[in-house]
Amino acid sequence: MNILVTGGAGYIGSHTCLELLELGCGVVVIDNLCNSSPESLRRVEELAGRSLTFYEGDIRDEALLRKIFANHAIDCVIHFGGLKAVGESVAKPLEYFDNNLNSTLALTRVMGEVGVKNLIFSSSATVYTAGSEMPLKETSPTGGCTNPYGWTKYMTEQILQALCVADPEWSVCLLRYFNPIGAHKSGFIGEDPQGVPNNLMPYITQVAVGRRECLRVFGNDYDTPDGTGVRDYIHVVDLAKGHVAAVAYTCAGKGCEVFNLGTGTGYSVLEMVNTFAQVNGVKVPYVITDRRPGDIATCYADPAKSEEKLLWKAEKTLADMCRDAWRWQKQNPMGYEK
Ligand code: NAD
Ligand code: WQD
Repeated sequence: MNILVTGGAGYIGSHTCLELLELGCGVVVIDNLCNSSPESLRRVEELAGRSLTFYEGDIRDEALLRKIFANHAIDCVIHFGGLKAVGESVAKPLEYFDNNLNSTLALTRVMGEVGVKNLIFSSSATVYTAGSEMPLKETSPTGGCTNPYGWTKYMTEQILQALCVADPEWSVCLLRYFNPIGAHKSGFIGEDPQGVPNNLMPYITQVAVGRRECLRVFGNDYDTPDGTGVRDYIHVVDLAKGHVAAVAYTCAGKGCEVFNLGTGTGYSVLEMVNTFAQVNGVKVPYVITDRRPGDIATCYADPAKSEEKLLWKAEKTLADMCRDAWRWQKQNPMGYEK
């Protein structure tokens, strides 16, 4: 089976490419490297002992997409490619709407033309309406997003659902990720954020490795057991395996289905810091600061539908996530290529 992976050089994409190669799939990647390095793909090939085909280019380039589909008999597309920084999306909304919506439109247009109608899309727990009851089920309310990034995910879901209504030949899985963290157990590939990390785990690892002085914990007055924010952290390798399960599901059926990819368990910021420090034997200095605007107290998944229909369940523990995130950071203190 041949899979086209958009955004395959990125954090989740690279881990998924590795899983696919290890299963014997043909893997074709398109990525414009706007937030990644080709070194990730080189390392994926080295770990897998097999090669993939890489096209450096923009998903919005329909001529390039046509060439890729002409060169490879693609069975299914996994669409990771997109911009993902919440704060940046507030500052540059047009860039986010252009990139994230037009890449999906170009991709689905060309897929329709060439008759490849199996698609898996990287959505996000951010599409759920704030204030909904926990755990979040796929049927929980969506919309009312608080930033342009979130709206691009919400709108893309709408586009793909409409496409499946208009043409019943399409089979689409919308995968709503919770908080992916960690790295492959080799420590050879991992998350390599540009500039100051927005997310908790890369910030923790950069403090631990000495790149940053101190973690700021954004608020300890939330209505949670220790007052800090609670999230459903999922190991990136479990997430990658969720995509493998979704490929099988997508290729076997028709229509549009939504799945949560989370563990079902929430951990607080302080639990994350303390577990990381304890399992790795390192110090993570932190200070409590004001809340970060737009943050909610608690967010975790009900993963029952994924377990039942995708036959997939996250298996790795929080200790695994902390150990693997640290191994990657320790072995690559400045990330790829530096
Ligand atoms: P990432 O930035 O590491 O990977 C995205 C990749 O897409 C990058 O390699 C980037 O260069 C590429 N890209 C972006 N725009 C492109 C374009 N127009 N043409 C070609 N390539 C392009 O991000 P990630 O963490 O691996 O996330 C993958 C997907 O999952 C994204 O769509 C993201 O929004 C979504 N997601 C991520 C998280 C998370 O916390 N990491 C959570 C929920 C959803
Ligand atoms: C986790 C917790 C923070 C950094 C974001 C996006 C979401 C999705 C995943 C793509 C919160 C606290 C964080 C720090 C802290 N991405 N924190 N100090 O906000 O749940 O989700 O990434 O779809 O759309 O919004 O993840 O890792 O930023 O924060 O105290 O330096 O850690 O307040 O409670 P979040 P996060």
